[in-house]
Amino acid sequence: MRVLVATRNRHKLEEIRQIFALPGLELVAADEVPGLPEDVVEDAATFEGNALKKARELCRASKLWTMADDSGLEVSALGNAPGVYSARYAGEPCSYPANNAKLLCELQGVEDRRARFRCAIALCAPDGREWTVDGCCPGRIIHEPRGANGFGYDPLFVPDGYGQTFAELDGATKNAISHRGAALRHAAERWLQVLTA
Ligand code: IMP
Repeated sequence: MRVLVATRNRHKLEEIRQIFALPGLELVAADEVPGLPEDVVEDAATFEGNALKKARELCRASKLWTMADDSGLEVSALGNAPGVYSARYAGEPCSYPANNAKLLCELQGVEDRRARFRCAIALCAPDGREWTVDGCCPGRIIHEPRGANGFGYDPLFVPDGYGQTFAELDGATKNAISHRGAALRHAAERWLQVLTA
């Protein structure tokens, strides 16, 4: 079965392809399907709401089974900001270094560095059925960026139980513990039957 993955983020697509490798399943990227809307406005109040909105709109446009994710960083001392605004925390256009600089600025002098990445994934079928799963990865925000792998807030985030940031860990280790990895494993478990029927 062909499943459209509603993302144009190459890093995410790579992670999704590595983890969501089910027999008989072909994952197609949004830029491999002509005529899809460039962007879906992510204006829901929750990760789940945004993931469903993206999956629904691209499912309607493509007539394909469609999977979409929404993810972000929640920082305890900031009342769970940036949350659903993670991509554009420092304003438009989205810039990872600017977002990281803003985060460090907001946390200047703050002792409580607890944070967590969260990810919701939605699956929509052309006949209108919908499913969602989620995943979470707890950790802390360090004081200066470290590492060159990954993307986004990876250089500032040290997952619980590790001494290295997500940007210092290799891709396989990140996938094994990340929010997206957790959500994708839930998805693979729960959606196996429906996707391979
Ligand atoms: P979206 O899910 O494409 O809306 O993006 C959410 C934003 O959250 C990204 O632009 C990143 O800033 C951040 N984010 C989500 N997942 C990760 C991750 O695994 N590492 C680092 N940053 C992430």
